[in-house]
Amino acid sequence: MQHRPPRWWQTGVVYEIYPRSFADASGNGTGDLAGITSRLDYLAWLGVDAIWIAPFYPSPMADFGYDVADYTDVDPLFGTLDDFDALLAAAHDRGIRVLVDYVPNHTSDRHPWFVESRSSRDNPKRDWYVWHDAGPGGEPPNNWLSMFAGSSWEWDDATQQFYLHTFLRQQPDLNWRNPDTRAAMFDIARWWLDRGVDGFRIDVAPMVMKDPEFRDNPPNPSTGEVARLGAWGTQLHLNDLAHPDMHELYRSFRTLLDSYAGDRVSIGELHHPDYEVWAKYYGERQDEIHVPFNFHLTYSAWTADAVRAAVEGVQGVLPAGAWASWVLGNHDQTRFASPRRAGRDQARVGMLLLLTLRGTPTIYYGEEIGMADVAIATTDSRDPLERRDPGRGRDPERSPMQWDSSPNAGFTAPDVTPWLPLASDADRVNVAGQAEDPDSILTLTRRLISLRREHPVLRLGDFERFGPTPDGTFAFRRLSGDGHLTIVLNLTGEERSVPGAGPGQILIGTHRDRDGSDVGADVTLRPNEAIVIEAG
Ligand code: GLC
Repeated sequence: MQHRPPRWWQTGVVYEIYPRSFADASGNGTGDLAGITSRLDYLAWLGVDAIWIAPFYPSPMADFGYDVADYTDVDPLFGTLDDFDALLAAAHDRGIRVLVDYVPNHTSDRHPWFVESRSSRDNPKRDWYVWHDAGPGGEPPNNWLSMFAGSSWEWDDATQQFYLHTFLRQQPDLNWRNPDTRAAMFDIARWWLDRGVDGFRIDVAPMVMKDPEFRDNPPNPSTGEVARLGAWGTQLHLNDLAHPDMHELYRSFRTLLDSYAGDRVSIGELHHPDYEVWAKYYGERQDEIHVPFNFHLTYSAWTADAVRAAVEGVQGVLPAGAWASWVLGNHDQTRFASPRRAGRDQARVGMLLLLTLRGTPTIYYGEEIGMADVAIATTDSRDPLERRDPGRGRDPERSPMQWDSSPNAGFTAPDVTPWLPLASDADRVNVAGQAEDPDSILTLTRRLISLRREHPVLRLGDFERFGPTPDGTFAFRRLSGDGHLTIVLNLTGEERSVPGAGPGQILIGTHRDRDGSDVGADVTLRPNEAIVIEAG
């Protein structure tokens, strides 16, 4: 149990909004800030405590806003700063906190800083980015690869040097070892905090600090990650990210956040497969990133063994008193309910797990109604990654939110073409229909969020392993002085029994009809069922 009062971000539920795809108020086919404001009543009804909005800053949109050309304004596509202020005020009125995306690793190549930096070798901003001479034969300085395919070095003919870009060549990497760059980026964080935001999601947090000697990366002996990451997965990323001085940087960033009243929070994007390395981002004295995102569930196969390993693995490495975080997906990952992930039948099981684990859950927009990926042919793709490396594109998980059964599902006006196609099942899978259906995944999500808020054991109770349990099932316990709960999940499409999970009463389950009923010591689960048992 916590020894000090819990912070809002420990007991709260975060909801990720990809602004292009959530709600379009202006009627141009792309979502915007006013659209989000118009849906805040829904989010309040759902019961989320905070929204994280992916980038809406001025941007050439080479990477749909993750190429920022001005960190302190709003792209006209999404509205104005006044729209942002209105959104922030309306969210706060409803008790919803607002987190914005902080993109420290790179800017757009159109950012005035980079325009200056590339203008000449002696420009005062030259060293704000990572420039390097060519090798003896004119080759790039080392073997580092872009996460978006190809070398991460781009030759600049005018000034006869390479610049580094971990993502697209339109996303040059900032040099955080330059104190002026760092001061300017910290000022940007202050600018948003002064405006009233409740914190940041930090984009690719570990990437900012690279090996100062620019040493090559060694090859990766395992080929396991190549399918997901392309050629980037062929190297061990020992030198192009996560240099140890990154920890000092995040300690300073934490100090900045903590100097503001109101429990401002940092949620860091951290894709580290090694549990121990991942846990280091909490900081030795838990003085770095407040909530290191944990993608271990996202990357696990949806099998009982893999899910158990991920949950117990994360719980097992958490530093004493540290608070976990959990996600099933986001704007870069196959949607959870998609057939090539867990599938629709398991969507409720996933949601019940997400909202009963110990730690901060983040729901990706649409997960609460069981939205699945929408296939987009490479030739029709919008995501540049798909065109550079077919199969890796992220359009499928970014399709417009399904609000109702009208044409365009209430996302935009009926006669407008949305920026990405809607799912073909939007007339059946949507918020309006599910809000009225007591058996829908939306109703289940809302009830789980409310139970989590009200039930002291679900809010703050400790995590305890349970089992082993029979093949295809996973169970764990949450306990505190207020009682204990056993969460039992069937990850298969067949009936399963879990000995010793009861006796008790079913507090909530994926299928509602058993809620409130008693179970004996041995608990039988129907196919694709999960339940929370309160010990009697
Ligand atoms: C993060 C974002 C992703 C973006 C990349 C580069 O991984 O989530 O969408 O493309 O950073 O900024």
